[in-house]
Amino acid sequence: MNQVSDFYTGPGKLLAAIGSALDAAGVDRTALRPVDLAAVDEFHIRGRRATLEILEALALTANSHVLDLGSGLGGPARTLAEVAGCTVTGVDLTPEFCEVAGALSEWTGMSGRTRFRVGDATATGLPAESVDAALTMHVAMNIPDKPALYAEAFRVLRPGGRFVAYDVLQGEGGEVHYPVPWAADSSTSFPATLEEMRKFLPAAGFDVISELDSTEESLAWFQKMRAKIQREGPPPVTFATFLGDSFAQMTANQVANLAERRIRTVMFVCSKPA
Ligand SMILES: C[S@@+](CC[C@H](N)C(=O)[O-])C[C@H]1O[C@@H](n2cnc3c(N)ncnc32)[C@H](O)[C@@H]1O
Repeated sequence: MNQVSDFYTGPGKLLAAIGSALDAAGVDRTALRPVDLAAVDEFHIRGRRATLEILEALALTANSHVLDLGSGLGGPARTLAEVAGCTVTGVDLTPEFCEVAGALSEWTGMSGRTRFRVGDATATGLPAESVDAALTMHVAMNIPDKPALYAEAFRVLRPGGRFVAYDVLQGEGGEVHYPVPWAADSSTSFPATLEEMRKFLPAAGFDVISELDSTEESLAWFQKMRAKIQREGPPPVTFATFLGDSFAQMTANQVANLAERRIRTVMFVCSKPA
């Protein structure tokens, strides 16, 4: 294990904790759909909505084989597979997340179209040009060697294929307030600036088709979520299940980081020249 996967790994029994929380809320686990898990397994700002934007940008079909670099608990993979009918391979550094991702796919009837393997997004071991589309969402902040990450995405993608990077970037407002949901402190946090991203992606060989800054929407998303929780109470399972006691502080810091422009959220849609 390394420092990054240590941060994401809880005291164990994550799957059991998710199951008990769903049972306690009276959710019928025999009829579970991917969307029912979104509050715990779409582990990025703007949740399932952001995944659906990526789905559009990747122009997926039922025949597409997609690679998710840093797939977490597999929520994005299941959403893409369910909505587009495609197959998705997720690679993630944290063994516990891969195990739970596989189990959640079984619970939601998605194991035929999603699979998860433990690995490093900068060196997946997958064959060159073996996937039709690739994405990485809220992962690059944990990876200091970003040229290696984007080079790997480029290598595994077939010519003409699309790649989306949706990440938290360093803003102009100063140092990030920690802890945040991806790091306890700056020792495992390496957010790139917009200017750096504009160099990294073309340097890896990609044509950048579009760049969409969603920082304002991200702030609005947190505010809407807070209002909903005040109105209806929290969803049955949330990121707190694995982020633990620091979750409230992390959320407050994320709101402050966005409001003070210490972070920004940006989606880059790229293609590999045919
Ligand atoms: C904030 S979570 C995002 C998970 C997922 N992309 C999502 O949006 O739901 C970050 C994930 O990146 C993974 N990760 C961090 N560094 C990685 C690396 N070098 N290779 C693969 N996965 C990595 C972590 O294990 C964690 O699951």
